[in-house]
Amino acid sequence: GAEKIEEAEPWNKLLPASSLPTDPALYVGPFPFYRRPSELGCFSLDAQRQYHGDARALRYYCPPPTNGQSPNFDLRDGYPDRYRPRDEEVQERLDHLLCWVLEHRGRLEGGPGWLAGAIVTWRGHLTKLLTTPYERQEGWQLAASRFQGTLYLSEVETPAARVQRLTRPPVLQELMYMGYKFEQYMCADKPGGSTDPSGEVNTNVAFCSVLRSRLGNHPLLFSGEVDCIDPQAPTTQPPTCYVELKTSKEMHSPGQRKSFYRRKLLKWWAQSFLPGVPNVVAGFRNPEGFVCSLKTFRTMEMFEYVRNDRDGWNPSVCMNFCAAFLSFAQNTVVQDDPRLVYLFSWEPGSPVTVSEHRDAPHAFLPTWYVEAMTQ
Ligand code: A3P
Ligand code: MG
Ligand code: MG
Repeated sequence: GAEKIEEAEPWNKLLPASSLPTDPALYVGPFPFYRRPSELGCFSLDAQRQYHGDARALRYYCPPPTNGQSPNFDLRDGYPDRYRPRDEEVQERLDHLLCWVLEHRGRLEGGPGWLAGAIVTWRGHLTKLLTTPYERQEGWQLAASRFQGTLYLSEVETPAARVQRLTRPPVLQELMYMGYKFEQYMCADKPGGSTDPSGEVNTNVAFCSVLRSRLGNHPLLFSGEVDCIDPQAPTTQPPTCYVELKTSKEMHSPGQRKSFYRRKLLKWWAQSFLPGVPNVVAGFRNPEGFVCSLKTFRTMEMFEYVRNDRDGWNPSVCMNFCAAFLSFAQNTVVQDDPRLVYLFSWEPGSPVTVSEHRDAPHAFLPTWYVEAMTQ
């Protein structure tokens, strides 16, 4: 039967698929190959959001003493007077990462030609792909271009996400601040230094790790923001010494815990598993905005909280879907042309669809990058 159809419709073999389903049931199976992520380098963004090819923005994990006392971090302290939020109107796309690639393209490991076979993107974009089979609220759009063999993936803010951002209620704005304020209570600027919650919270500042991995047959070069390094970690080798910091609401009922394991832990797992960050330190805040308890979650053990939950998530499904999307993108973006863009769009309850575009507004590889790479 199937063979007959293929014979009768040979174009099925020639044309790339036009959509990709996202139902979890379709991606159940063995966990795919995922290369242990290794750090190729790093960069920092300063208080003015300027790029520096070094670790100047890296902070050091500095938890409060464990002398039986609970922490008492006021996450609302300093809001809004000591808050310098990043300008979210500025669409940075892949620019900072491309800056790093440009500077290091001549001495990348993996041999000559490795970059030409790789996918270059942000860790956050891959996180969204990993959680797609379970996401019921927020869609996404990813722009893709092929240039000198490399496939570049850059997120595009959906119209719905833009409306949400521009109409974000004050309570949500303060909640965003609180996540960053927690970092200030938990990090020092120098190894062995102390924390200083009296300063400003400037969300322009970021330390980014650049990592190499491979999912199935897709070599990956991606960058992700790292909250801090643990100077006391058993190994000082990145990314194993990095720590991800998170805040969440204090939980008081089995129902609240179940929903935390199903929704939040999935996102925390996806974000930290990709770069190989082994631990996530959670601060649980009470309704008054104070963190009174901390808990370390091991990334590799997060799945245990939902393993026996029918409505839980499965890491294999996440990774198999991501691999399927990357193959779909590789097969769709055939022409090598930095001005040609394929826009992959997804809304919960629907398959991923794709449309073709040329130049503005979707082309995202900057002229300075294309010209320097063409030299
Ligand atoms: P929490 O995660 O503790 O809420 P990250 O945890 O990835 O290092 O991000 C730091 C903080 O940035 C978050 O802290 C949150 O306050 C804010 N943030 C990150 N992603 C966000 C998003 N998609 N929407 C709103 N706030 C976000
Ligand atoms: Mg962070
Ligand atoms: Mg964090």
